[in-house]
Amino acid sequence: MNEMNLLIDTDTAGDDVTSIMMAGLSGVNLVGVTTVAGNVPVDLGTRNALITLEKIGRDVPVYSGAASPLLRKLVTAQYVHGNDGMGNSNFNDPLRTNKMENAVNKILNLSHEYKNELIICAQAPLTNIALAVIKDRTLPERIKHLYIMGGTYRHSGNITPAAEYNFYVDPEAANIVLNAGFKCTLLPWDTCIYDGTLNMEELRYVTENNSDLSKFYLNVNKSGIEFNNTNGSGLNLNGLTHSDSLLMSIILDNSIIEETIRARMEIEYHSETTRGFSSVTQNNDEFKNVEIIIKANKNKFMAKLRKILS
Ligand code: BDR
Ligand code: CA
Repeated sequence: MNEMNLLIDTDTAGDDVTSIMMAGLSGVNLVGVTTVAGNVPVDLGTRNALITLEKIGRDVPVYSGAASPLLRKLVTAQYVHGNDGMGNSNFNDPLRTNKMENAVNKILNLSHEYKNELIICAQAPLTNIALAVIKDRTLPERIKHLYIMGGTYRHSGNITPAAEYNFYVDPEAANIVLNAGFKCTLLPWDTCIYDGTLNMEELRYVTENNSDLSKFYLNVNKSGIEFNNTNGSGLNLNGLTHSDSLLMSIILDNSIIEETIRARMEIEYHSETTRGFSSVTQNNDEFKNVEIIIKANKNKFMAKLRKILS
């Protein structure tokens, strides 16, 4: 099997951290981590990515990107993940700093360096990827596959009834990226709720070895767990949702996918009430732009998570 060349675009906080750990410990060629404003302001996301890579002993370069969505004011999710995005854990400053090159330029440069061989995991608002497309519309032709965590398929959102967080924060960027012509697979929020939420007992199971990484994982996610257990989302969730790390587990092992549909997804960016809503239709073959994962294997995901935390 050819080695996988992987780039992660992330607003590093909470589950983004688990996704980076999974990729960094998997043996794939993690060519870089690009950061973007989202869960936390971009500088904090960059810091968190560096802390995470240091924790797993990986010297992967980190590139900082867009500090705000294309047209809108940034809405962070610090009320979920803590002010630092890491469960208010007061981690020490990382030893390394980010590279000087901007994330958007780096994405374009890597698309040439790894022409037709680069897989991108986009687990944040799509601002960096959209800016890269705006700069060079031929980018999608050189990308082997784009995986996106975002949108919803048959469920209400997590930030408004209409929208999932990543698409709500930068709906214009989501619209640009989904229409850019990428070979694209998308993991919507509802699949993450059904197949990526671990209740407290399941969380104990994946962390029962009490390893250093298990403790780190629980610390980073303690605000998120508290948020769910006090019904902060109003969705009656209990335990911890895994959206970015469920997507990463799927990238690393496609057999975790149980069911997909090929569809057209369009993003609402005119209305304030339904801002970021992802409208899905399967009617017109000609305009289908995305493969949507509607069922994933939770047991396989949990096994993978447990393994990397050991
Ligand atoms: C997405 O929003 C963020 O809070 C998570 O990191 C994930 O990417 C889920 O809606
Ligand atoms: Ca994220």
